[in-house]
Amino acid sequence: MDKKYYITTPIYYVNSVPHLGHAYTTIACDILARYKRSQGVDVRFLTGTDEHGANIEKSAAAKGVSPKAWADEVSAKYRALWKTLNISYDAFIRTTDPAHEAVVQAIFEKLLKSGDIYLGSYSGKYCTSCEQYYDESEMGENCTCPVHKKPLTEVHEETYFFKLSRYEKPLLQYYKEHPEFLVPKYRANEIINFVKGGLRDLSVTRTKVKWGVPVLSNPAHTIYVWFDALINYISAAGAGKFLDPKNPALHDEKLALIQAENFRELWPADLHMVGKEIFRFHTVIWPAVLMALDMQLPQQVFAHGWWTVEGEKMSKTLGNVIDPAELGAKYGVDAVRAFLFREVPFGQDGDFSMTSFKNRYNADLANNLGNLLSRTLNMMAKITPELPQQADVPMETVEKTQKTEEEIDRAYDELAFDKVLELIYGYSADLNKKVADTKPWELIKTNELKALDILKELIVCQRYVAKWITPFMPTIGAEMQRRLAPGPIQKYEPLFPRIAA
Ligand code: ME8
Ligand code: MG
Repeated sequence: MDKKYYITTPIYYVNSVPHLGHAYTTIACDILARYKRSQGVDVRFLTGTDEHGANIEKSAAAKGVSPKAWADEVSAKYRALWKTLNISYDAFIRTTDPAHEAVVQAIFEKLLKSGDIYLGSYSGKYCTSCEQYYDESEMGENCTCPVHKKPLTEVHEETYFFKLSRYEKPLLQYYKEHPEFLVPKYRANEIINFVKGGLRDLSVTRTKVKWGVPVLSNPAHTIYVWFDALINYISAAGAGKFLDPKNPALHDEKLALIQAENFRELWPADLHMVGKEIFRFHTVIWPAVLMALDMQLPQQVFAHGWWTVEGEKMSKTLGNVIDPAELGAKYGVDAVRAFLFREVPFGQDGDFSMTSFKNRYNADLANNLGNLLSRTLNMMAKITPELPQQADVPMETVEKTQKTEEEIDRAYDELAFDKVLELIYGYSADLNKKVADTKPWELIKTNELKALDILKELIVCQRYVAKWITPFMPTIGAEMQRRLAPGPIQKYEPLFPRIAA
């Protein structure tokens, strides 16, 4: 059984409706998944929704519905958005799936037996929005949450702990031996220093939160939402068989629900794509849990940056939340997808503004890609009714195309989506320049054969552009390929109607 390329998005909380920030993580994975598939790689692309915990309990109560009904509604919104945005995921997991809950419970019991989880008690300052305790060094002024700026709540509870402290040295060792694990590099040090600063055991159950996966052996406790959530990556891969072949006590009825045979085909994941604020969960807690389970660690965790809108944090209160579906309906989903990855070096923070969106649209799409295609086809139609299958192009062009393709591959290896687009747009801009320099519309009158040669070359080159752009713009890329295919030349609407400033 061949190992698949297994790529995951985070699973999204169902306590709020999806916005541009959530779409960002998912589109990034979609671009990569589409690119890999185009290279002949067998891809499994996982996404889903994170549906337990106090916040979701609260959101549901505020709506006067059950948490499950609420989760169903918002989870469906995510799926609908992914459909609109043309996300080619292969699997969608919900943490309320019984098969996932069974894996979480079984893992908990397994770690309880191995001593990696133990019962204790906790008192500390807790943020109910983050669902996380903060110690004094982390909290803001006057005992507030560093993220939400709200007062932290004093909480005392009996709780099970995960022995995170046990994994301090193994984690540091792992980071050292696997420099590709923490990327981008400029975010790695923060994690390494955090672990070097010492790890304390992590509270992994709640007695006050009812909406969660109950601990099998002590159902007064529900399992901490992050412990539950991270496990999605292996339960979606079919963790059942792995769990412990030597421990038949775990092979209960519930585990039979899991399609275990997938597991070796998928695990370890090749890439967990996450936003920077959840990098630590994925690079400290998650690998420690996997080590405790004696399982392989994912190859790479990549943390991207955050989008602000016109300089402000995106928030419901500020009313500046960008709905990617709305933007897509107006300017084209593909234009939105491409914008997000050209505007900002992937990994860094970015700021969204309508001005920069329109400017990029007009410059990169309307004037560069779109204009080149319509000019080429219009001029071509004046000479011949048919587009050629192939054409002899100068060696120089062949080499340049090959080199660009190699550079694109390298940029993908670094997840430098911005570089990929820069290379494609740069290549296309050079073709536009060639048109301006050689003026085929004049040559048609004086030297038709020469004009035809140039136009054929432009067609052949744009077939590459169309192929390269497809992971970013699946619909437009396919349409470009259709228009550039050998056969009769037709009249077409502009691919990218210009947007008025
Ligand atoms: O964190 N800019 O889910 P989530 C860029 N359930 N990315 C943004 C963003 C912004 N303004 N806002 C959100 C969770 N995101 C957990 C994950 S995984 C086991 C559990 C991105 O719904 C964010 O960086 O809060 C993250 O990658 C994703 O949306 C998940 O958001
Ligand atoms: Mg690999």
